[in-house]
Amino acid sequence: MNIKERPAYTTLAEIYDAVMQEVNYDFWADFLDALMLQHHPNPESVMELACGTGSLALSLDELECYEMWGTDRSPEMIAKARQKNKDRMCSVNFSVMNFLDITIDRTFDVVICVFDSINYLHEPKQVLRFLQECQKLLGPKSLLIFDFTTPINSMEAIDYLNNEEDTTDNHFHFLRRSTYDAEKQIHTNRFEIQKLSADHQTVEEEFVEVHRQKIYTLQQMLDIIDQTPYTVVAKYNEFEFEEANEESLRITMVLQCLHTQS
Ligand SMILES: C[S@@+](CC[C@H](N)C(=O)[O-])C[C@H]1O[C@@H](n2cnc3c(N)ncnc32)[C@H](O)[C@@H]1O
Repeated sequence: MNIKERPAYTTLAEIYDAVMQEVNYDFWADFLDALMLQHHPNPESVMELACGTGSLALSLDELECYEMWGTDRSPEMIAKARQKNKDRMCSVNFSVMNFLDITIDRTFDVVICVFDSINYLHEPKQVLRFLQECQKLLGPKSLLIFDFTTPINSMEAIDYLNNEEDTTDNHFHFLRRSTYDAEKQIHTNRFEIQKLSADHQTVEEEFVEVHRQKIYTLQQMLDIIDQTPYTVVAKYNEFEFEEANEESLRITMVLQCLHTQS
């Protein structure tokens, strides 16, 4: 069978929520909610960049404290987010947008970009561009909150991410293989996705998506931020109010920018 190579987050959108079923987005939303309240006097409007299928934005919306927006580069992921918005009777404003080309003309109290979406930026200059673009969305008191995963996380993850799973709910089957190049700090996830017939007996189509992420150390990220007008308000280890360090697996940064573009 002819295996079709697809860009990241096109076919995967069909099974993304099944792949992420272990992720507790409500817990994540509670952590971010606490973090926003800790560092902003009155957070009301929140933009999630790279929101994927919208699970986190929807969990935040259900707290009924925020005017929620969500954007992502992938139209397929946003289509899923919009459907869930409708199904859950939420009111998140979802749209397609590349976070390296921000076109929404307003500011938010908080801009969030989590679940290692930043790791898709392979060069420090792209992270600089991201930080510059985000300035368009930030007022003087606004927060930019983003996370990234570290080399230690990738080294641990490859032990458990080589998995094969059936996602029987929507007739797809996937196999994920993970590798990590420690020298180049590149983490690769290769997803082989099979579309099954209604009775699950036949493979109708096969797709491959290769996701490559650059894995930054804390010091590398701090060196990048140092070149910008942002100040680091806080940096947290995983989902705790504990200072991140070079041993952290996932780091959540809270930044503020004194020179906003608004
Ligand atoms: C690991 S997923 C995280 C999705 C979501 N934040 C979540 O928690 O489930 C990474 C997301 O980043 C998005 N993404 C990658 N590069 C992007 C870019 N330049 N602009 C906007 N979204 C991007 C992908 O389309 C994908 O939905």
